[in-house]
Amino acid sequence: MAKLKIVKYGDDTLRKTCRPVDTITPRITTLLDDMVETMRAADGCGLAAPQVGILRRIAVVEVEPGEVYEMINPKIIARAGTQEETEGCLSLPGKWGTTKRPMHVTVRYTNRQGEVVEASGSGLLARAFCHEIDHLDGVLFIDNALEVMEE
Ligand code: CO
Repeated sequence: MAKLKIVKYGDDTLRKTCRPVDTITPRITTLLDDMVETMRAADGCGLAAPQVGILRRIAVVEVEPGEVYEMINPKIIARAGTQEETEGCLSLPGKWGTTKRPMHVTVRYTNRQGEVVEASGSGLLARAFCHEIDHLDGVLFIDNALEVMEE
């Protein structure tokens, strides 16, 4: 496993649309391992592949320690309710914003075994799913934030 460098705001990579993954190669599973390690080392609860310079549709989320979602080609297939909470991003250190997100979401994605699975989350987990999947389309939380605060 290796810790990767996190791309910071201002880098074009964060604004690109990522390509889907067709085949889960050892390179992809290594990337998942490295992304989880990088997210944990940075004390984050999610990380998307473009944040480490890879333009593929891959994201990891860990809101509850040990409960890791490694998502390949994730899609939000259901959403319900709304929440307005503060969020930040490892690519925008020192910035925080209030965003409006669904309270509950269901995500469909391919796991590292190549199986298509679904996961549902509420509250912070729902927000993390939305935030990370937005990254795969070049969308950052500040784009839709009701207000942005700087540390
Ligand atoms: Co982010």
